[in-house]
Amino acid sequence: MNPSHVLEASQILNEKIGQKASIGIILGSGLGTFADHLENKKVIPYSEIPHFPTSSVSGHKGQFVFGTVNRVPVYVLQGRVHYYEGHSLEEVTFAVRVLKQLGTKTLIVTNAAGSINRSYKPGDLMLIKDHINLLGTNPLRGKNWEEWGPRFPDLSQAYDENLRKKAKAAAKKIKITLREGVYVAVSGPSYETPAEVKMLKALGADAVGMSTVPEVIVANHQGMKVCGISCLTNYAAHTGAHKLGHEEVLRTTQKVSEKFGLFLKTFVITIS
Ligand code: HPA
Repeated sequence: MNPSHVLEASQILNEKIGQKASIGIILGSGLGTFADHLENKKVIPYSEIPHFPTSSVSGHKGQFVFGTVNRVPVYVLQGRVHYYEGHSLEEVTFAVRVLKQLGTKTLIVTNAAGSINRSYKPGDLMLIKDHINLLGTNPLRGKNWEEWGPRFPDLSQAYDENLRKKAKAAAKKIKITLREGVYVAVSGPSYETPAEVKMLKALGADAVGMSTVPEVIVANHQGMKVCGISCLTNYAAHTGAHKLGHEEVLRTTQKVSEKFGLFLKTFVITIS
């Protein structure tokens, strides 16, 4: 990754926004409506930001949004790019580098995921307590820019404990169930076979998805505090009568979008 590209992108965003936030939020598949309800919004399409990669997946709008939640300023990425689209992990994590350059200290990463733990149902929200990287690669592969972070960053507390406590408190406040578990990242884009889900379960995963882990690695590399939330949209490799597809994932995120939005809003206010 070229540091000057990160600088160029952040300079343009600073000019267009003219205000600062210390919280950044990445919205996963179908979870973008949270950004629509922000106050004092400034919306910048990714295509207007130099070097910013754009997504081809439905359910991902592709715009950078600045706004406030109860007067708390936030940067929101409405849509992300994925490894399975053919992007390099440098491209996948470019936005996180830019968020850091803009001054973001806390990153909230969200995603849609398949439930492996059968007591966690579609429609449940799951706080990520740890992850397993099965992408077969790492976003930090290649030259390390020492000014960004160490060559060998520690990931023993990749998901900040204090933020997790606050996420649980926010869920309690609005009386919703917040599950907690391990997220495993696979490359996709095909969904898992039943044998793979059995393997992932044996490895200790509660949910499976195709994103998040690269962003979390890069955020940790740069010393940001991270909180991860999965919206469980389906049982992984379910054995139902119909085939699993992206439509089902989007349908579930639509159903939970109100609960998810209220949770995120309450959480942002709790940590501000
Ligand atoms: N597997 C992988 N990624 C996903 C799933 C799934 O079942 N659901 C939503 N994203």
